[in-house]
Amino acid sequence: MNENANDRKYLFGGAISCSQADGGFRDGGKGISTQDLRFLDSSWTPEEIEEKHQNDPFSLSEFQTALKDPSTDYYPFRRGIDFYHNYKEDLTLMAELGLEIFRTSICWSRIFPNGDDLYPNEEGIQYYVDLFTECKNHGMKVFATMIHYDIPVNLVTKYGGWKNRKMIKFFEKYVTVLFERLGHLVDYWLPFNEINAAKFSPWDGVCLIPGNEENMDQEIFQCLHHQFLCSARAVQIGRALDPGKPVGGMIARFTTYAATCKPEDNIQAIQDDQYSNWFYLDVLAKGYYPEYMQRYFDSINVKVKFEEGDEQLLLDGTVDFISFSYYFSQVSTNVEGWEKTAGNLIIGKKNPHLKASEWGWQIDPIGLRITLNQVYDRYHLPLIVAENGLGAYDKVTEDQKIHDDYRIAYLREHINQMNEAVKDGVNLIAYTMWGIIDIVSCGPLTMDKRYGVIYVDLDNGGKGTGTRLRKDSFYWYQKCIQNNGKKLD
Ligand code: BG6
Repeated sequence: MNENANDRKYLFGGAISCSQADGGFRDGGKGISTQDLRFLDSSWTPEEIEEKHQNDPFSLSEFQTALKDPSTDYYPFRRGIDFYHNYKEDLTLMAELGLEIFRTSICWSRIFPNGDDLYPNEEGIQYYVDLFTECKNHGMKVFATMIHYDIPVNLVTKYGGWKNRKMIKFFEKYVTVLFERLGHLVDYWLPFNEINAAKFSPWDGVCLIPGNEENMDQEIFQCLHHQFLCSARAVQIGRALDPGKPVGGMIARFTTYAATCKPEDNIQAIQDDQYSNWFYLDVLAKGYYPEYMQRYFDSINVKVKFEEGDEQLLLDGTVDFISFSYYFSQVSTNVEGWEKTAGNLIIGKKNPHLKASEWGWQIDPIGLRITLNQVYDRYHLPLIVAENGLGAYDKVTEDQKIHDDYRIAYLREHINQMNEAVKDGVNLIAYTMWGIIDIVSCGPLTMDKRYGVIYVDLDNGGKGTGTRLRKDSFYWYQKCIQNNGKKLD
């Protein structure tokens, strides 16, 4: 307790994911991944996109068509921002920004193109050796996600994907290669991006197509059980092969307040929190299924099948740190007809005290301080804010400037609240702002929902020069990092 609360320091960083940034979808021996199949017609209006993508981004016919289509035209994730070929220039810009930690994901289908291959693809491994070495040369720590939604599509078509327990063996082989070949270059490991996406965005989370399963909830939670076991195995394999290197867990954090002080709203808030957030972190960090879930499983007719040894494995493989994405908060109430609004992965209930982004996500910087306190109180593990940022339409002026004061305001307020949480005693290791450079957005699949402090000249159809420009927020974040996040004007 001797350290002055104002002296504590966390790392400032930026985050992207391979499917949203890389492109090069058949280069370097890469196999097809599940995210390569997601479809966007760039002539759709924002309303059409919202209607088609908001609730669930994928249908069986889209899946079957995409499997046969080798082009990149309708598949934004096949193009990304061409980070695969451009990473050296992009990392140079990020170094100029002063980034201390860089988060990206490793694409399983670059390492094992089909997921069940006998040997790994050396070209894929070399790409990550080069990428992470470049980060190190720029003095950045590397925060690597092993699966940010995408897996080799062959594992879905041949084995049924996460429904099949065989996935654990394929995953073990994959992560063994990662720890053995990349461990010396990675500082923080994360087996799964937002493990609770399984429930809220099934194709992303567990590669299930809505409408294609008899009992969707049963399948979701069985798939998820296999992912929990994989996470525990990653922790164990990491301890054996890359000892001392933290392996973490992550959720998309749905911060929720009771809409009123009515007891009914408060019990609703507790349950929403348990079923959407705590369940996932409790399994990852405490190592067992919490008691409150039985009631929920009964209510949706789910019986998760455990095999002998599963309980022990979960207990033995608890994570070393917790991370989460934080974009918005919502309210909980069972009052009929309460106004709704969109949020990351879900449609939430509206809080009359908050403003929202152009996509309806309610902006709540104090909610980040609340979240950090809640998560730290519950687990007392180091925390990483793995994603946080503002998706907005940006305009380029004639002299090639982007005056994104709205993004600066968003970042300033959220960083201020993180500083408050650190003073509250929270052990925060790092903040990796999402997406540090403009990338293809994950929900709508568009380029024009932009998060970056670096602008990329590409449109929703992948047209443009690909030129990178520094936004006003670039210079602001650069100064913020220089000042250690203090004195933010
Ligand atoms: C998170 C995902 O849920 O939200 C990211 O991990 C995603 O992949 C981010 O990009 C923001 O969502 P969107 O739909 O605005 O890109």
